Order: sequence, then C-alpha cells, then structure tokens
Amino acid sequence: MSSNPAHEVRPLLPRLGEGRDGGPPLAQADHRALRFLTAGSVDDGKSTLIGRLLYDSRAILADQLDTLEKKAAGAPIDLSLLTDGLEAEREQGITIDVAYRYFATKKRKFIIADAPGHEQYTRNMVTAAAGSDAAVVLVDITKLDTAAKPLPLLAQTRRHALLAHLLRVPSIVFAVNKIDAVEHPAQAFAAVRDALLDFAERAGITVAEIIPVSALRGDNVTQPLDADWYSGPSLLQVLESLPPTQERKDGDLLIPVQYVAREGEGTGNQPRTLWGRVAHGRLKAGDAVQLFPSGQVATVAEVRLAGEAVDVVEAGQSAGVVLDRQLDVSRGDWIATPNTVHETQRFSATLAWLDTEPAAIGRKYWVRHGNRWVQARITGIESTLDIHTLEANGAHQLAVNEIGQVTIETQQPLPVEAYESNRIGGSLIIVDPTSNRTSGALLVKATI
Ligand code: GTP
Ligand code: MG
Repeated sequence: MSSNPAHEVRPLLPRLGEGRDGGPPLAQADHRALRFLTAGSVDDGKSTLIGRLLYDSRAILADQLDTLEKKAAGAPIDLSLLTDGLEAEREQGITIDVAYRYFATKKRKFIIADAPGHEQYTRNMVTAAAGSDAAVVLVDITKLDTAAKPLPLLAQTRRHALLAHLLRVPSIVFAVNKIDAVEHPAQAFAAVRDALLDFAERAGITVAEIIPVSALRGDNVTQPLDADWYSGPSLLQVLESLPPTQERKDGDLLIPVQYVAREGEGTGNQPRTLWGRVAHGRLKAGDAVQLFPSGQVATVAEVRLAGEAVDVVEAGQSAGVVLDRQLDVSRGDWIATPNTVHETQRFSATLAWLDTEPAAIGRKYWVRHGNRWVQARITGIESTLDIHTLEANGAHQLAVNEIGQVTIETQQPLPVEAYESNRIGGSLIIVDPTSNRTSGALLVKATI
C-alpha cells in the first residue's frame, strides 16, 4: 500500500462528469441528471426504496429480475436485494463508500447514491451528500411512538438531516416509510410530519417535501397513494420537479486542477490541457487566469469539453483549459481569475467528525482541498452541536459523529473560500495519517 493518502481515499466531492483520480473527465452525458442520496437510520428501508424506484421505472435488467423472481419462489420479490452486491462490498471496509444507481423517467435522469444507515457509515453519507442535488431522508414510522407528545425522532434522522443541511444539499425531502405497517396511517403520518417540521424549523432546515411512502408495496413511490387522507405528490413526482443545483456562473472563476494531460497525449500533438470541474464562474479563450500556489499568470488559448474545443465553459462543467504558454502546473493546483483568490493558513470551520478516534487538538492530519493535499493541525475546538437540543456546548475534543466548531492551521497557504459561497472551494476532508481513513469533513466559515 502506498503511504500517499491521495491513492487511498475517495474524494469527498465525487462529481459525475468527472473522471476517476488521474484520469481525464468523462463526457457531460449525466450533467442534467438529478443526483440524490438516500439517508436514514439502519433498516429504515433505503435499499428497498431504491429497488422500488429501479423496478417501477423498469431500470432493472431482465436477468437481474429473473434471479430475484427465482429466489422469491412465488412470493413478492425482495427489492433490497438489488443493492446486495453493494452490501457485500461494504463489509470489506472502505473499498466502496457509496454505491451509485442510475435510472430515468420520461421527464428526468437520476443518479442515486445509497448511503448505509448505520452510525459507523456516517462518513459515507457525508461523501454522498457533498455532491448531491437532493437528499431523501427516510423515516421509519414503525420505529416511532406516534402518540407521544412531543414525538421523539431518531438520532440518525436528526443527524442526517442536519448533515445534509450543513453540506448545503439544495433540497431535503423526508420520506415517511412503512406507512403500510401502521394502524392509523393518517394520524401517525400527521404526527411525524409535525415533529419533522418542528425539528426542521428549529434547525433552520428548509424542507422541500414530507411524503408518506411504502417502499415495500410501492405506495406513493412511483404510483400515487390510494388513500382518502393524502392527496399530495408521489416521491417520483417530487424528484421530477426538484430544481437543479444553482451553480454560480457569474463573477470570478475557480477551477481545481484534477488532471494534467501531458503534451502529445490524446490526439495529435496537443499542448497540455488542464482538466477540472469548474467550481464557479465561466471561462473562454482570451481570458486571463492566475494559478495557485505558484501565482503565475497566463492567457487562455482554448477551452474544451470532453476533448472538443468550445466557446465557453462554466460552473458545473468538467472543462479542459489550454494556456498560451507552458507553465509548471500539476494536479492539486487551482486556476482562478487573477487577484481574486486569498490564500490563508488559518481558518474557522464546521467539522463533522466521522472517525472512532476522536479529533484531537495539535495532532497532525492530512487535509485535502480540491485535489491538493497538505498537512494541517486542529488548533482549537470551540464547541460541539447537541443534535437533540441543537445547542452548542463547549468542547475540547470531537467524538465520532459529532459536529463542532474548530480552527485549523495548514502547513501551506490554501485558497479556501467560505463553504456558504461555494461547496468546492469551501470544503476539505481530513485524513488520519496513520490509518489513512477519511476522519472528517471541514466546511470553511471564515479565514482568520
Ligand atoms: P441499511 O442499509 O442497513 O441501513 O438498511 P435499509 O435502510 O437499506 O433497509 P432495507 O431496505 O434493507 O429494509 C429493512 C427492512 O424493512 C426489510 O425487512 C424490508 O423488507 C423492510 N421494509 C422496507 N420498506 C418497507 C415498507 O414500506 N413497509 C414495510 N412493512 N417494511 C418495509
Ligand atoms: Mg440498505
């Protein structure tokens, strides 16, 4: 095994349309698809729901269906088995963080990230959320005491909704599952809905929709719920109508360099092309750019999408940039509008800690910003968020699954931005140098 964490750890921000580490970006085919993740507690029914969406939208291959039907021997098929391959991979540890599934309706293409519900997998949920347009948080209604006032929600429901909110997933949908298994669905759903709305309001979470579903029976997933007490949309109708993520296309440009295609690579004797997903802004031939950390300036000779020269590239696209001169640029550098980037070695951040080894002040970690790795230390831990009361309590360390406010010092200056203004420029992952595990996700608040 290599000791370079870059080879061991999956990126925090897996973006479709981008190639794997070291490879050129893929075509833009999936660009318009809605990326969403399913989250929730263990056994809330995430895999069954995904199976149901794939099954009802006919996205399942005939041979897969054959196998499932044989297995069921006449009984209704177990749709969660459609993600079975994934289950096995998870047991091997960190080889697969999140499994992606694809399906399409007449209206839209979808990419689903299935994040396991167990607490120890919260970091997978964070990975999935960071690149998603929407989060569907499942709530198992059979696990809740719907007669209690106030109705207590599960810790994982709160945590996952909070994380999706902190990671600025644009739309958060609650799917209240197993509605088939409660005696008085109308009253039970109303009670859960009120509890979710109350929690969301206190946490400052904007809820896109709260809907009842039965993933098992397929009620209100793609087919409307046949009940006199509900006349709202089905899950699929909600997903088809959610707005796409608004990328900031105006103003200054920022691109993390993911891959440098060397001279002569690809067709003909091309000059070097710098590939990366545009974090914000747009770029065309003739524009001036500045590179970081070198600070060198150049003029853009050509911009490309999927290997073809185009007039302009913009936020959200995986773009190729050819400069008018040969500069020393490598993976991990940033391309920006000249004089717009402020590099810093100290910043405050929200830290979602995901490792069983607590976050410790003063210890050396690796952090990854864009595609660049540097060493860093946590210089202060100010507080941790109580996910039940939503209060910030004073703290000196962060245990697994805790969310806190921290200060960070990096060994080299980084062009960080506030996470609020940009998800790519404002996020870093923390990697433990001894275990090589992704230990936390940092969301930058301000430079200090
Ligand atoms: P993890 O991946 O372990 O976090 O679980 P999960 O959220 O993927 O749950 P899964 O889909 O495996 O479902 C858990 C159990 O709940 C299974 O036994 C399902 O058959 C059952 N289940 C799922 N959806 C429904 C539903 O709508 N109604 C009822 N009655 N049972 C359901
Ligand atoms: Mg599952």
